[in-house]
Amino acid sequence: MCGIIGITSSKPVSSAIINSLRKLEYRGYDSAGLATLSEGIINEVKSEGRVENLEKNIAIKNMQGSVGIGHVRWATHGIPNTINAHPHSSNNVSIVHNGIIENSTILKKFLISKGHKFKSQTDTEVIVHLITEYLKENDLKNSIIKMLNQLHGSFALGIIFKDQPDLIVGARRGSPLAVGYGPNENYLGSDSYALKSMTNKISYLNDGEFCILKKNLVEFFNEKGAKVNKKVLELSSSEQDYDKGDFKHFMAKEIEEQPTTLKNCIKEYIDNINNDINIYNFPWDLKKISSITLIGCGTAYHSCLMAKYWFEELTSLDVTIDIASEFRYRKNRFKKDNLYVFVSQSGETADTYAALDLCNKNNMKTCSVVNVIESSIARDANFVLPIHCGPEIGVASTKAFLGQMLVLYIFSLKLSVLNKDLDKKTYVNKIKDLKNLPKLVEETLLTESKIQTISSTFTDAKGSMFLGRGFSYPIALEGALKLKELAYVHAEGYPAGEMKHGPLALIEDGMPVVVLAPRDNYYQKTISNMQEVIARGAKVLLITNKSKDEVMSENIWQTIEVESANDDLLPFLLTVPLQKLAYYSALKKGYDIDKPRNLAKSVTVE
Ligand code: F6R
Repeated sequence: MCGIIGITSSKPVSSAIINSLRKLEYRGYDSAGLATLSEGIINEVKSEGRVENLEKNIAIKNMQGSVGIGHVRWATHGIPNTINAHPHSSNNVSIVHNGIIENSTILKKFLISKGHKFKSQTDTEVIVHLITEYLKENDLKNSIIKMLNQLHGSFALGIIFKDQPDLIVGARRGSPLAVGYGPNENYLGSDSYALKSMTNKISYLNDGEFCILKKNLVEFFNEKGAKVNKKVLELSSSEQDYDKGDFKHFMAKEIEEQPTTLKNCIKEYIDNINNDINIYNFPWDLKKISSITLIGCGTAYHSCLMAKYWFEELTSLDVTIDIASEFRYRKNRFKKDNLYVFVSQSGETADTYAALDLCNKNNMKTCSVVNVIESSIARDANFVLPIHCGPEIGVASTKAFLGQMLVLYIFSLKLSVLNKDLDKKTYVNKIKDLKNLPKLVEETLLTESKIQTISSTFTDAKGSMFLGRGFSYPIALEGALKLKELAYVHAEGYPAGEMKHGPLALIEDGMPVVVLAPRDNYYQKTISNMQEVIARGAKVLLITNKSKDEVMSENIWQTIEVESANDDLLPFLLTVPLQKLAYYSALKKGYDIDKPRNLAKSVTVE
């Protein structure tokens, strides 16, 4: 949520800042801005909307300066307009901010009493005036320390100063911040992705730290101002991972590459020769874990819900799941032998991070299932299970969802065999089946053309429902979420058996309803529930798996058949047509698929 960048160099920086802002745009895209320092003057340009608007304005202004900061915004305080866009500046400083200052109202009152005048409705502007106020009587470093002490909430900051020709200050609490090292220049960015085209040498600030960058110097400090030494990490993944190639959208590319990402992940965890699962260096005796709590948000939460079904089916462990924003404020009764698992693609989601932090502070066993292995959640959990699916740029999560489910499934299998809940032969057979999953996903991706046609009905619908039972229920929730966020069609995911307890009242003539009914243990029950909605006028899209037996039901509007697999693996296959359904429904409406309205990837605010 919001992306920040800073570059100090010996050459002009505005076009490099624009390049990085384009990469950060997935974090926020309602406005953008940039400030550079040139001959003791801070120049600022801001625009409503996308980075391309900002770029046009910068070209007109011919922005000079070899130190600068930039920002893409996802509005929290104040509507998305030019005045509220970052950077925010006084005569002396200019600031970009990602996060929320919770005590901004109190600080604003204090600053107004000191004669400061505010231009925007943002919380960020208090930081500008606060630092300007402290600079009156303190040196730069002490002003920063004092200012940071006053702020409540979360932030990643980039600050430039009128009288410091090549200097940028970065600071973080809650929101992520990376520093990159280049030849005769240094960088600050919300993530390594933004810095990738300039450097692969990165350090990360920890919570409470700040840094001072000059073109030939980088220094880190803790909140009291004591120097901190940092490791320099070398990033590995290649630039091409960040390119959409011949695809129209990142989402389309990310859906299509799922067979490969699943294969890569399986390679990391499965011992092909012995048909066993390798989880190295796990810090506790896996056999001594008696219960598990899985925590995440949005799509990641759906993978937790999916995992609960697998854990319950395959192991005798107690499994609870929670939405991170709920977990963090509940009165938790922490359990010593419980493993707390945090699932997050970005590894930066504020609510998930806060839940992890809470568990860490209570000395619980914490483990994360993440995609971005340099992220805060990956770094701060006691143990990390990466999903190995490469950068996910489309705001709507697709390949990461399959990756999260895969790792959680592998984990449940491993625990089931260790705890002797599953006999060795069944375990080995399940691993053999799993190795075939990428191929089955590849074949299921071929349902493409049929979905394109079907999607028009969803595009024009007033509302829709997604129904499933058992293993298919979390997938129904995920299918509905994808349609909502991409095509802006009201979609509700529901357990098929619950419809008669209320939601059946919503069904009216022609309403599109997706029924997930693979031939598993729940099949007959789900088919009965499907008939109940058909009888009330629903236009049913049945998604099942291939079988020699015909579906015994009349008046089904459309049927899509995914490949067949053992029951555990069907959720992966059912997900694919739902991703495509949402994609094509949004495409037909001409919506911005990679950047749906009001959203952003990496949700670093509460
Ligand atoms: C939906 C989606 C979101 C994320 C959620 C958590 O398509 O992408 O619901 O799943 O914001 O994000 P991560 O996984 O980064 O913690």
